[in-house]
Amino acid sequence: MELDASQVRRIILDEHSVLRDELEEVVTLLEDVATQRADAAVRLKQRMKAFYDAFLKHIAHEDSLLRPVLADIDAWGPARVQSLDEEHRQQRATIAALAGLDPTADVEGYLARVKQFVREVSSDMAAEERDCLNPDILRDDTIVIDSFTG
Ligand SMILES: [Fe+2]
Repeated sequence: MELDASQVRRIILDEHSVLRDELEEVVTLLEDVATQRADAAVRLKQRMKAFYDAFLKHIAHEDSLLRPVLADIDAWGPARVQSLDEEHRQQRATIAALAGLDPTADVEGYLARVKQFVREVSSDMAAEERDCLNPDILRDDTIVIDSFTG
């Protein structure tokens, strides 16, 4: 089939037109996905704010209730207190940094940092339960003696 130049031109331009329509739909879908992800990231930030508040209260409790008991339970007491203090210092710093992020500015980066925080908190709680809250360590007969070096 012989086509003249203007027919070739018409066919190719029509194909471009169809492809442009499809591309427009793809761009709309991409924008929808980006918007939904940003919305989800904002909801996550709100949810995390509630978690940070609860978690900060929890570590304040550990400081007031657990820390004095740990200090005196055995020869490793001071080391346990030191690691609790360091852990809580890091956790407060991480929370302050996370709470200040705009999740829509870098959705991927925000998700990665929240995921890392969740992993760290989970593993710190497990380590605390193993190293400090274990009933063999924190026994009911643990006698809390005021440090008294007169
Ligand atoms: Fe804890």
